[in-house]
Amino acid sequence: MSSRIFDCISRINDTITENKDFLTDLDREIGDADHGVNMARGFHAVIEKVPQEETDIGAVLKKTGMTLLSTVGGASGPLYGTAYIEAGKVMAGKTEVTSEDLSAVLKAAIAGIQKRGKAVRGEKTMLDSLIPASETFDAKTAEGADLITALDAACEEAEKGIEYTKTIRATKGRASYLGDRSIGHQDPGATSLTLTLETVRDFLKGE
Ligand SMILES: Nc1ncnc2c1ncn2[C@@H]1O[C@H](COP(=O)(O)OP(=O)(O)O)[C@@H](O)[C@H]1O
Ligand SMILES: [Mg+2]
Repeated sequence: MSSRIFDCISRINDTITENKDFLTDLDREIGDADHGVNMARGFHAVIEKVPQEETDIGAVLKKTGMTLLSTVGGASGPLYGTAYIEAGKVMAGKTEVTSEDLSAVLKAAIAGIQKRGKAVRGEKTMLDSLIPASETFDAKTAEGADLITALDAACEEAEKGIEYTKTIRATKGRASYLGDRSIGHQDPGATSLTLTLETVRDFLKGE
């Protein structure tokens, strides 16, 4: 029998695989046309390596991150890899996720991505979806919203983050080589990040 966390990671793999061409096409506009290919290769390896029966969420997230680090090329491999490893530290030994956990996971992922990539909000990266999502998750939780309601609001902000990346110039990563010509295009990493969050939300909702 596979564990719930394995099933969640497996759903993320499905989403990335289904959106492989879309993500790669976005990266063709402002990068080197490999984001979807990179992520799909990485998650395919994750599904092979993560033990299906493992119930420790932290252990699965750590293994996911280490696999992404070693199999995904480009900027996104080390960045997503670090995000999952840091999230794994928060969830070490846990088999359930609470709002408090998810809040800490999102913050740990941001800190990991920033430590590695040195980007801040507004540089046209995955952080332009992840930071507002994390802030909104915390704000909604503080208002008394349950996990799913707060995560729904976080996903909406992540979507808005994608729209925001269309309006700004890239100053980090490969897209920064384009300067002003990167304006008008949505960031592939913000897109994969939002798709990931939406998949986790749908999984937790039981959809
Ligand atoms: N320093 C950074 N911090 C956060 N995210 C970044 C950074 N550099 C690039 N990214 C993200 O990585 C994505 C590109 O990933 P990918 O195409 O797989 O790698 P590469 O740019 O090396 O080909 C971008 O769309 C952006 O969201
Ligand atoms: Mg690329």
